[in-house]
Amino acid sequence: MTHEIAVIPGDGIGQEVTPAAVAVLEALEIDFEFVEADAGDAVKEETGEALPQETYDLAASADATLFGAAGDTAADVILPLREAVDSFVNVRPAKAYPGVDAVRPETDLVFLRENTEGVYSGLEDRLTQDVSTLTRVVTESASERLAEFACEYVSGDDHDGFSIVHKANVMRETDGLFRDTVKGVADENGVETDQVLMDAFATRVCLDPEQFDVVVCPNLAGDVLSDLAAGLVGGLGLLPSANIGPDRALFEPVHGTAPDIAGEGVANPAATIISAAMLLEYLGYDEESDRVHAAVEATLEDGPRTPDLGGDASTGDVTDAIIDRL
Ligand code: NAI
Ligand code: MG
Repeated sequence: MTHEIAVIPGDGIGQEVTPAAVAVLEALEIDFEFVEADAGDAVKEETGEALPQETYDLAASADATLFGAAGDTAADVILPLREAVDSFVNVRPAKAYPGVDAVRPETDLVFLRENTEGVYSGLEDRLTQDVSTLTRVVTESASERLAEFACEYVSGDDHDGFSIVHKANVMRETDGLFRDTVKGVADENGVETDQVLMDAFATRVCLDPEQFDVVVCPNLAGDVLSDLAAGLVGGLGLLPSANIGPDRALFEPVHGTAPDIAGEGVANPAATIISAAMLLEYLGYDEESDRVHAAVEATLEDGPRTPDLGGDASTGDVTDAIIDRL
């Protein structure tokens, strides 16, 4: 069966790393139909819209989407795109690779971040000159959906359950509901869990990341703590992510448009290529996904490497080396 893959490079180095990931997917000779579409600052300049309707519709109908990055318009692009695929969980692996200088080389974590609510519900008000407010929304249904995903995620051989990160000692209603719902679903499925307060998690993951494996968090905590983990593993050029919905999904590097190096052809394509490996696994191409992961790991270890990792290779050199190792 042909799978339709939406390709949305966006701005800055998105224009460099997204074609690199597509080249890797093409080298696997799978029956994919790639359809490219615009989003971001450049198309806004041209048309007045950062996310043209046709791009939204494409993401909402394609089997999977590969997105690069958008500049100033990032929030206007990525939040609706996540909504287009009805993404309820953001999967963010943070893994240190051999050959990469990492603060904590033993780090190997996956964050499963709630992707629809919490403090990112958009319910903010400026009541008076002095007072602004924000409504934090946590629902049983979204917490349940996340927990069911987490139970399935850990059901393979590699995991012993998951950690629930929350701050229910202070946010008793919202994080209380989150914690109790996630724990309830895990108990029903016979999945082991432990619980960590989110501030304590920040310290513990820095001191000893090996005590964590799969981490289930509310939206804001997942956003912040996964960036913290990025710092432990050697930087943004390496971190992929997957926004998973019930019927489709969107894959993107965690990094942005990197205006300081955009146009120079030296962006590290690894984060986007690992995101493409996650796309392969999502569509059921497990063997091909493993091949891409292995080729990226071998290239990070033996080179060539882009300047962010201390090398002097171009995006193209690294991409070619990964394709050669497939
Ligand atoms: P950034 O991730 O673009 O860059 C931060 C630093 O990391 C820069 O020094 C950059 O050169 C480096 N870097 C990032 N990715 C790299 C790669 N693949 N290879 C080598 N070096 C890499 O974050 P920044 O500078 O905060 O934001 C720049 C623009 O990107 C802003 O306009 C922001 O709105 C946008 N952005 C978009 C995102 C998205 O579309 N999902 C996410 C984050 C930022
Ligand atoms: Mg973030």
